Amino acid sequence: MRDVVVIGVGLTKFGELWEQSIRQLTAEAGSKAILDSGIEGKDIDAMYVGSMSAGRFVGQEHVGALVADASGFSHLHIPSTRVEGACASGGLAFREGYLSIASGMNDVVVVGGVEKMMDVGGGAATETLATAADQEWEAFFGATFPGLYAMIAVKHMKEYGTTKEQLGQVAVKNHSNGAKNPYAQYRSTVTLDQVVNASPVAYPLGLLDCSPVTDGAAAVVLCAADKARQFTDKPLVKVIGSGQGSDTLALHARRDITTLDATVYAGRRAYRQANKNPADINLAEVHDCFTIAEVCAIEDLGFVEKGQGGKAVEDHVTTLGGRIPVNTSGGLKSKGHPVGATGVAQIVEVTQQLRGNAGERQVHDAHVGLTHNVGGSGATCVVHILEAM
Ligand code: COA
Repeated sequence: MRDVVVIGVGLTKFGELWEQSIRQLTAEAGSKAILDSGIEGKDIDAMYVGSMSAGRFVGQEHVGALVADASGFSHLHIPSTRVEGACASGGLAFREGYLSIASGMNDVVVVGGVEKMMDVGGGAATETLATAADQEWEAFFGATFPGLYAMIAVKHMKEYGTTKEQLGQVAVKNHSNGAKNPYAQYRSTVTLDQVVNASPVAYPLGLLDCSPVTDGAAAVVLCAADKARQFTDKPLVKVIGSGQGSDTLALHARRDITTLDATVYAGRRAYRQANKNPADINLAEVHDCFTIAEVCAIEDLGFVEKGQGGKAVEDHVTTLGGRIPVNTSGGLKSKGHPVGATGVAQIVEVTQQLRGNAGERQVHDAHVGLTHNVGGSGATCVVHILEAM
């Protein structure tokens, strides 16, 4: 396998973007990443794009070709492929781009992720997201993602004594980080009192325990490590581990609903390839679609012991300046969650951190970072480990 590095990153603002179409969002993120990398259109061997449900959100399928078209390089006929794995679509697209270079097939690949979710109403967005749950056993009976993660939260509270306040601390931390991120959907800090007393969504989760519905796009440029210096003299960020795992679509069929085994296995595979362990990770972007999801993620990735996730957040282990800062970007909770773009946006944040470019959010001495992107309630998971060169 060849070494692969990230040489360019780009992001749109996340939020309610009425004035931009899905085509414009991809073009903006992609052109920022391409400019950042120093490549030109003729250098691109392939494009991969993560998109969960553009057909339902904006009536547009065929997103691979759309992205190649929107890039302005349609005359080059670059191979462009859409990758779908629910909310893990972006992370999976990144992995496909990485594998295509590591295998020797390509030298330069642009990976994008996009979702424009706010053109439909809240009910339609919830229904569309629920297509990633098990139709026969969950969605048909009215289960939604807030409902499914609420069940995980109740079980975690019962098994490990996790409290609603500890869950709330995830939102407080991530909003505090997001307030420092100019690209975030919600740049407002929130207090614990506001989180625990927010309107209920599905007990114990309230409005501020949930990631929002979001429009946005992200892009990165990947390159074979031995060719990167042809394009850029910026710091290089190497992909040292890539792991993926899957699990049952329906929550009830799992061994233990408070552990996402897809995360455990994806994490193990990424750590093994990278020859690292959880203690070597300096920062992580994890999939906090709900506050309980971040608690489970930091346990399943081995940053804290099983059952201790809530306590660790309360003790500021994962705060900026803590032992392992988590979701310095604001996470899905505050930065926003345009589902197909999220996994790519996580790579953007970790790359900026490892380049030392994260401004007010910079983690001191960041050398190794991890991204964790989940589809559904944990049926798909993809983990990447990146290292500053
Ligand atoms: N966090 C913070 N604020 C939020 C928010 C969130 N998650 N969602 C909405 N808001 C704010 C809005 O900006 C709005 O503020 P305003 O009145 O000042 O303009 C207000 O709350 C009401 O927004 P609205 O869009 O009417 O909320 P809603 O009740 O329709 O939707 C949720 C709220 C939590 C149900 C919705 O955001 C949701 O479904 N989130 C989960 C998305 C999801 O499942 N993703 C996939 C994960 S696997």
